[in-house]
Formats: sequence, structure tokens, C-alpha cells
Amino acid sequence: SATRYEAENATLSTGDTVATNHTGFSGSGFVDTTNAVGAYVEWTVTAPAAGTYTATVGYANGTTTDRPMDVAVNGTTADAAASFPTTASWNTWAGKAFSVPLNAGANTIRVAASTANGCPNLDYLDLG
Ligand code: GCU
Repeated sequence: SATRYEAENATLSTGDTVATNHTGFSGSGFVDTTNAVGAYVEWTVTAPAAGTYTATVGYANGTTTDRPMDVAVNGTTADAAASFPTTASWNTWAGKAFSVPLNAGANTIRVAASTANGCPNLDYLDLG
């Protein structure tokens, strides 16, 4: 089973806010990043052993335009400009899964906006 890390407990870039103005989120809110290239949410996660894990990012994109993000693990890009397509509504959440190489112990996983539209709204990272 996966371990959930809420976005509202993660490290946020300047200008990001924790919001509750849409429905269906996990935990106490979600992160609405600033609409800018490089806006980010960074989770610190713990792995019991070194290896490849699945990180699933919960997000909503209520626009009709993709909100691609770079995924970096411990500062190294694991996936560049990964697609986060529309979920049809800001109240509709989807999970996008990535394979991530983790060290034993603490690791950072950062998603950062590739475009000036910023990140989609971000709800959680599930590590399994
Ligand atoms: C709307 C929406 C926000 C979202 C923003 C955006 O303002 O209510 O939740 O973050 O659009 O385009 O990023």
C-alpha cells in the first residue's frame, strides 16, 4: 500500500498558497501554485531501501491546456515536461504515476511548472 504525503505539508515555492476553494481534495487542502515557470511543490519522502518506487501525483487541471511539469528526484530531473492534461474541472482529481529512483532514507521529489501557466492544482504524492 502507498504512503500519502499531502501537498499542503510539502515545501512550496514563493507565492504558492494552500487552498480549499474546490471540492474533492485529500487532506486539509491543496496547493495552488503561482502561475509562473518554475513554481514548485517539493515533498520529502522516506524510502525503506534504495530502489525504484512509484510516485503518483494527485492533481486537478480545470483548464483545457496541459500544465506540464518537470519531476526531479534529489535535484536530478527524472522526467522533463511531463504532461498533466485537463481533468475537465478544478473539482476533478487525477493521479499521474512516475517511476522514481530513491535512496534509502530521506529523498526529495519536486514537481516544477514548465510553462508560465504554473502547476496544476496539487493535492498529494502517493509513494508505493
Ligand atoms: C483558477 C482556479 C485555481 C487555479 C487557477 C489556475 O483560479 O480557481 O484553483 O489554481 O485557476 O489557473 O492555476
